[in-house]
Amino acid sequence: MEDWDEVEAVRAVDREDMLGVVASLPEQIEYWLQRREEVEEVARRLRSPIEVLVTGMGGSGAAGDLLEKLFEDEVKVPILVNKDYEPPASVRSGTLLIAISYSGNTEETLSTYLLARRRGAQAVCIASGGQLSLYAQQRGDPCFQVPGGLQPRASIGYQWTPAALLLHELRLLRSDLPTALQETAEVLRRQNEALGPQVPEAQNPAKQLARALQGKVPLIYGCYGPFAAVAKRAKNMFNENSKIQAFGDVFPELNHNTLQGWEGAPSQNASFAILLLRDPEEPPRIHQRVELSKAIFQQYATVHEVWAPDHPSPVVRAFAVAHQLDFVSVYLAILNGVDPTPVPLIQELKRHLGDWNGHA
Ligand code: F6R
Repeated sequence: MEDWDEVEAVRAVDREDMLGVVASLPEQIEYWLQRREEVEEVARRLRSPIEVLVTGMGGSGAAGDLLEKLFEDEVKVPILVNKDYEPPASVRSGTLLIAISYSGNTEETLSTYLLARRRGAQAVCIASGGQLSLYAQQRGDPCFQVPGGLQPRASIGYQWTPAALLLHELRLLRSDLPTALQETAEVLRRQNEALGPQVPEAQNPAKQLARALQGKVPLIYGCYGPFAAVAKRAKNMFNENSKIQAFGDVFPELNHNTLQGWEGAPSQNASFAILLLRDPEEPPRIHQRVELSKAIFQQYATVHEVWAPDHPSPVVRAFAVAHQLDFVSVYLAILNGVDPTPVPLIQELKRHLGDWNGHA
């Protein structure tokens, strides 16, 4: 698409306004900041957990990754992430299960919820409706109802924020999360102004990056912990918004395997583009690894760096990068003339699977 600085031309491809939904991320976060009392009320009803298990698939499951990776350095009990039909064996009455399904009808999530409840775990659900809301209602479990009508992957603010605030209200986090969330919303709003469709390509780094990625397979390398979850989510956004293959990886682990993979098949390397997710707060040894690796990668492929803003909160920094890449994935779809919103292959598979009979 050549005229993607024209609003009408963009609308003709982005028919369900995924760009508008991406730009709504700050409001999604604020939605729950305005409903903190509801979260406090739920926290008051819960026993203090010995572990937290977050279960959910795809776009809803990304909330679990971001909870685990953003809080692993400060949370007082382990956060486990599950993306399957069955909870891990450790689940018992001291476990707090947070079951997240935007539609409320994802069978893996429903199955894990039912099995964990049978083992005596306390549960909190997050859904826009569906079977999960009904199960929660029947069992008297709290359920944070999120606004419906969006794609699950585009509603990360609605899904992640109540879970994060719940951990805060349960006094499992050390940091001042509500302040970080407010600041996240402010930073994202500024990014909307810099990266939104109204900003022409010449001044818009997200459009420029999308253009550079055209025809390439993005390999997204997070610099460490929190950016592992961001890389994984960005990979999913390229898969589902742009409808292309993409892969996520993270330092320092990728220095022990992925790095070597650049050497053996030089003719393939031109198909890839590396996105390095960088953080001004990278620990020194990580910084050294990323810089040394970048010099090696540049011998084999184009490297693009996506930097988090300078801010003391990792929540702000990680969400800022996630939001930048959301824009890039949608612009790439538009550039390729692909409607970013529908996911027909995922829907087709769900249709073929048919109704779930309650067994894994
Ligand atoms: C679609 C999307 C998918 C879904 C997944 C699970 O936008 O992101 O990855 O999230 O199929 O469905 P839900 O989120 O409804 O439980």
